[in-house]
Amino acid sequence: MPRSSSLGIMMDQSPLRPFGRVLQVPEGTRITDIPVQTLRRWTEESRVLVLRGFSILGKQEFADYCRLWGELLEWEVGAVMDLVVQDKPKNYLFASGDVPFHWDGAFVEADPRFFFFQCLDAALDAGGETVFCDTTAVYRDADEDLRRQWEGISLTYKTEKLAHYGGQITEKLVSQHPSTGVPVLRFAEPLDPTVYKNPVFVTVEGNQQEETDDFLAMMSELVHRPQYCYAHAWQPGDIVIADNFSLIHGRNAFTGSTSRHLQRVEVI
Ligand SMILES: [Fe+2]
Repeated sequence: MPRSSSLGIMMDQSPLRPFGRVLQVPEGTRITDIPVQTLRRWTEESRVLVLRGFSILGKQEFADYCRLWGELLEWEVGAVMDLVVQDKPKNYLFASGDVPFHWDGAFVEADPRFFFFQCLDAALDAGGETVFCDTTAVYRDADEDLRRQWEGISLTYKTEKLAHYGGQITEKLVSQHPSTGVPVLRFAEPLDPTVYKNPVFVTVEGNQQEETDDFLAMMSELVHRPQYCYAHAWQPGDIVIADNFSLIHGRNAFTGSTSRHLQRVEVI
């Protein structure tokens, strides 16, 4: 494992495909051994940063560490959300099926800048990968006509508050990354009421239902293309930092054991 000359610790950095970076360090290295500014820069460059070998943090310690990056989004349960599959969930996030693409914080006041996960437990080859789509790449590859169409589109999302979020919001489809100014897409897929525990209804402002349906189907097909998506298969001990502006994310359905336990914190 090569030694990082600037930081004085052993580490191996490898690119993930089609984007992202994995940083492997010797077991027991502390996340605080790497300056926050360095990890922040790597996260912004890579959009997803996977850290392996670092010590998992206690719940309070995890929140305290994330606070070094910025203010935290506080839920009713606190800043650290335990993500586990439940037997009788009210919300699809806690069920074992897939989770369609969305960005975090859509139904709360603040727009999280980054989100952090740490993986306390996960079964291998059991599905449940977290899938990230790089919307900066989707926008980059769109032709002029499509970009012009997107610039004029606003979408309204509506959901009932059954877990830790809910309500109605209207957002422009094209937004700008707060650090780089690069165009990003704020797109979340609808959740069909016949399939998901708590549906999300999406409408395109000014469109008839049929046009809305066609548009949403086109967008879903586009953002799921493999060249834009990195699927993260969790290993116990993984710490993952993701850019909530460049990316939208979702989860594949579980195909095996659902014993996985993630903790998540959102940094505003
Ligand atoms: Fe999410």
